Amino acid sequence: MFTRLRLACWSALLLALAPLADAQEEMTGTGDYLQSSQAFKDYMLQCAGCHRYDGRGLSHRGIPDFNQSIGLFTRLPAGRQYMIRVPGAAQSQLDNAELARVLNWIVAKYSPEDITPDYKPFTSAEVGASRRQRFDDVLQARTALTRQLQDMGLEPAPYTYGSMER
Ligand code: HEC
Repeated sequence: MFTRLRLACWSALLLALAPLADAQEEMTGTGDYLQSSQAFKDYMLQCAGCHRYDGRGLSHRGIPDFNQSIGLFTRLPAGRQYMIRVPGAAQSQLDNAELARVLNWIVAKYSPEDITPDYKPFTSAEVGASRRQRFDDVLQARTALTRQLQDMGLEPAPYTYGSMER
């Protein structure tokens, strides 16, 4: 009895969520991206193995926390490019549109308070333009961005990649 009731609840929930998946192309604001079941799935399958389901990463493995941090990078053009070009994102199996959607989801989910009012979501074209430019040195790029943000009085999550013992 209990199980059947639970099943009915899940079915109702899935039915209620289904139309949202079709609305993805028209998304604009940050909140919209949280409704994207595809972005959620892509994050969980392609990114969460390292970045964890709660976006907290693993500091002892050099994976930075997204919470109250990743949105800060969207304030700088070089920061947006960094988010696209970082190896875990650029070299994922996601196509440009999917990667743009996941990045938008990450910002909306873990760091919505850190963007500015003129924030624009990532687009497929923006991702395509930067994605192929591999970093020679990710650590150097991140360190430079950290300094720029700190000069603006902002503090991104600690970044330990490259400075830990392996
Ligand atoms: C194999 C582990 C791994 C996977 C999978 C992975 N990442 Fe990462 N990610 C890292 C590491 C390590 C860093 C920090 C080092 C670096 O910058 O490459 C990082 C950093 C980042 C950053 C910059 C965060 C900051 O504060 O500097 C972003 C954005 C990011 N990843 C996005 C993604 C996205 C999107 C996905 C999924 C499509 C993904 N990553 C998958 C390991 C991973």
